[in-house]
Amino acid sequence: MFHWLEKNPFFFAVAVFLVIAFAGIIEIIPNFAQASRPVEGLKPYTPLEIAGRQIYIKESCNACHSQLIRPFKSETDRYGKYSLSGEYAYDRPFLWGSERTGPDLHRVGNYRTTDWHENHMKDPALIVPGSIMPKYPWLFTKNADLDTAYAEAYTVKAVFNVPYDQPNGVELGDRENAQKLMMAQAKEVVADMKDKDVKEAFEKGEIKEIVALIAYMNKLK
Ligand code: HEC
Repeated sequence: MFHWLEKNPFFFAVAVFLVIAFAGIIEIIPNFAQASRPVEGLKPYTPLEIAGRQIYIKESCNACHSQLIRPFKSETDRYGKYSLSGEYAYDRPFLWGSERTGPDLHRVGNYRTTDWHENHMKDPALIVPGSIMPKYPWLFTKNADLDTAYAEAYTVKAVFNVPYDQPNGVELGDRENAQKLMMAQAKEVVADMKDKDVKEAFEKGEIKEIVALIAYMNKLK
């Protein structure tokens, strides 16, 4: 029946392409449906965590750190449960990373604490002898960009329907309300820190970059 096809290289190539494309689509489509579905209990980032995430991107932490735990025993033993696609539902952009010069950070909030991060960010080699991670002293003096963080939260809520201001969810409200939320969350982080300048600045109503970054690190679970 299909002898004519075998004798016609052009249409044969088209037919092969169609068969392979169809098989590929059958394989891929279910994943599209799943990827956009958040895992149960997943909450959007608070405005302060977004500020921290923006610092993480700005400082290119993702060049050395992945956020994707693969389903291998060696990885789950070290980092905890392997990552699920639905856990990234509110990540824009994704920060999976493609290189692990340093360890994976997808669940770092489960085993590192605020004061550990504080000391480590100031001088990694003091905490982990031989560490090649750079020092980040400017995070302790520069103020976090809270306006841009609020703008991002507002935008993803409006454009991508990220569920802020839902019952039992993450609150956002207007810029003034977000400021109150950011100060309240920053207060908890600062309470566990030792740096005098960061604490003094907070008393004056300033949130240093390190505070936002640690809030983000603590959220990674
Ligand atoms: C040049 C590569 C490099 C960059 C850039 C880098 N790190 Fe690291 N990081 C490392 C290495 C290597 C380690 C392992 C040694 C150590 O703990 O210091 C590490 C360790 C860590 C740890 C401890 C993780 C664990 O499980 O013990 C955290 C947290 C961390 N980095 C956060 C960051 C953040 C946040 C940034 C951006 C501000 C950053 N890193 C930038 C290389 C890097």
